[in-house]
Amino acid sequence: MNIAIAGTGYVGLCTGVCMAHTGHYVTCVDIDEQKINLMKSGKSPIFEEGLEELMTLNNERLTYTTDYINAYQNADIIFIGVGTPEKKDGSANLSYVYNVAKQIAHNVTKDCVVVVKSTVPIGTNDKIENFIKSELKKPVTIYVASNPEFLAQGTAIRDTLHASRIVIGVENQYSENILRQAYNGFKDIPIVVTNRRSAEMIKYASNDFLALKISYINEIANLCELIGADIQEVTNGMGYDERIGDKFLNAGIGYGGSCFPKDTKALHWLASFHDYEIKTIKAAIEVNEQQKFKLFKKSRKYYESLEGLTVAVLGLTFKPGTDDLREAPSLVNVPLFVDDGAIVKVWDPVGSEAFKNAMEREHNSELNEKVEYCDKIEETLKEADICFIFTEWPEIKALEPKDFNNMKDVIILDGRNCYDLNVFSGKNIKYESIGRSLISGE
Ligand code: UDX
Repeated sequence: MNIAIAGTGYVGLCTGVCMAHTGHYVTCVDIDEQKINLMKSGKSPIFEEGLEELMTLNNERLTYTTDYINAYQNADIIFIGVGTPEKKDGSANLSYVYNVAKQIAHNVTKDCVVVVKSTVPIGTNDKIENFIKSELKKPVTIYVASNPEFLAQGTAIRDTLHASRIVIGVENQYSENILRQAYNGFKDIPIVVTNRRSAEMIKYASNDFLALKISYINEIANLCELIGADIQEVTNGMGYDERIGDKFLNAGIGYGGSCFPKDTKALHWLASFHDYEIKTIKAAIEVNEQQKFKLFKKSRKYYESLEGLTVAVLGLTFKPGTDDLREAPSLVNVPLFVDDGAIVKVWDPVGSEAFKNAMEREHNSELNEKVEYCDKIEETLKEADICFIFTEWPEIKALEPKDFNNMKDVIILDGRNCYDLNVFSGKNIKYESIGRSLISGE
């Protein structure tokens, strides 16, 4: 099949490359010329394991272009994988999706199925179909189908090629057949066929359920600290029950990323638009907002303020395996440390450059000047008065107690439960994590 993909972010590019890997001819379209040139030279614009290798392997079936006219004219199927960022009021911004829909309507020359992969509010697929039909320039038949994406960053290729399910939301047999053909090469993956609105809802309900699971376990962890239970023992005991499952029960300083924060707010907004309050999701959002500041609050136990202190921050990205910083706890904490008077030294294997840019964008150069970007963990910890861990990168998890010896005072506040408690006990280390007992260094 001839497939065009609009948008070369995580969803668009990974879908395109995996579709090419299963034998289709894929044209990846983006408005960003620089990005297109980078991909033409065989490089991926995003840090994602295995992506560049698959781009090289399937090079003959992949085209990267800004020429959307040609791409849409020749496509049997067009996937829309552009962003739907959060608006100030929490609703989803659909302007990128509608721009692409318009370009499609103005340029298609043959019947085709337009597949919306972007996460969009329930009812959007219906509206897009009507919009495209009203904007068509040629007498062709266009159907819109919903096909939400469930990949997680860092495991995007595996999640696409070995997805837990493929959800197809269609209103007619023709669209179903075309989508089944597109996914023909994706073996042993259950296909869920439903109507468009249910497909759209499956995406939000799934993401929000996972966010809820994390906020729930974070609250249980907070209570564990107060009553002397251990969250890891607790989740281990819970996980044997198949109805609960043993995944996504890692307590920490809250979820970040491009999906959970945005999709919880979007569903909450959508519910209130229908005069309904979705209380569980509202609570998940509130808990997550609070959780981000948990380590900062813990630091007050050791220092009344961070004024004049050297603070080491290990890990900046919202999770390991990605250079993405969207909604990362580091983004709200580092400015807080600086405002509190600290000199902040940060380390991340891939996220420092993006962090620096985000700080410049969202704050000011003056604030950024108080942040020292280190190349090595050792350099970050040197002479530090306190250390905060925000991301569980393997390099950070591999640290041993002796690696913290060059700190002025060894106080470690770990937001991702990176270490076994036994490893730190009996040493001159104060170690606090989430939902577990503290090691007081005595
Ligand atoms: C998520 C969904 O997993 C994916 O299915 C969807 O398509 C997009 O959103 P992603 O945001 O890439 O993917 O990462 P994920 O691994 O789900 O982690 C999201 C956040 O939750 C991270 O900040 C992570 O640290 C946090 N998290 C995850 C926890 O705090 N505890 C957990 O047990 C799991």
